[in-house]
Amino acid sequence: MTNNSLQNPDITISSLSEEETRTKGKILSKNIQIGDLIFLIGELGAGKTRFVQGLSKGINSPQIARSPTFVLITEYIGDIILYHCDLYRISIPEEVINLELEELLDKGALVVEWPEKGGEYMPDPDLIISTEINQDNSRKLLFFSYSERGKTLLKHMKKNI
Ligand SMILES: Nc1ncnc2c1ncn2[C@@H]1O[C@H](COP(=O)(O)OP(=O)(O)OP(=O)(O)O)[C@@H](O)[C@H]1O
Ligand SMILES: [Mg+2]
Repeated sequence: MTNNSLQNPDITISSLSEEETRTKGKILSKNIQIGDLIFLIGELGAGKTRFVQGLSKGINSPQIARSPTFVLITEYIGDIILYHCDLYRISIPEEVINLELEELLDKGALVVEWPEKGGEYMPDPDLIISTEINQDNSRKLLFFSYSERGKTLLKHMKKNI
């Protein structure tokens, strides 16, 4: 996953508020399935966790997403299981091996913040979503599909935004 591959987004959306970013996550969640792997990239405070809050709300989980501090993975149980992994705090990519992310994908969907930290040990994503902070503090959300499943997710997303 290099920055070079993040050139032509399938969808670009602007978001003027954290609530709007949550809403976009909620829209995406409506078609999310077991086995879906989504990477969220973007600088600190760009809005990755706000997007995950929309995902967890959208699957009807009673738990509000926040950045996991002491654990690397949080589980949200709703219509399906959504795993939320934040790799910001890992010090070496090898730490990802013990998380057994592939096993999680047998049971639920998985969204990962800071996937870059896992380097070559990360499974291949279906979607990469890049969040950028604009000059005026609004956000730009860029969606890139990396599999047939990713394309399907974005097809639904396009219809509903
Ligand atoms: N349009 C917007 N969308 C999302 N967040 C926004 C927006 N405008 C302002 N914000 C603010 O930006 C911050 C985003 O925080 P959030 O925890 O979602 O970022 P993050 O990308 O997960 O950061 P980290 O890398 O530290 O985990 C919040 O304080 C939120 O209120
Ligand atoms: Mg976060």
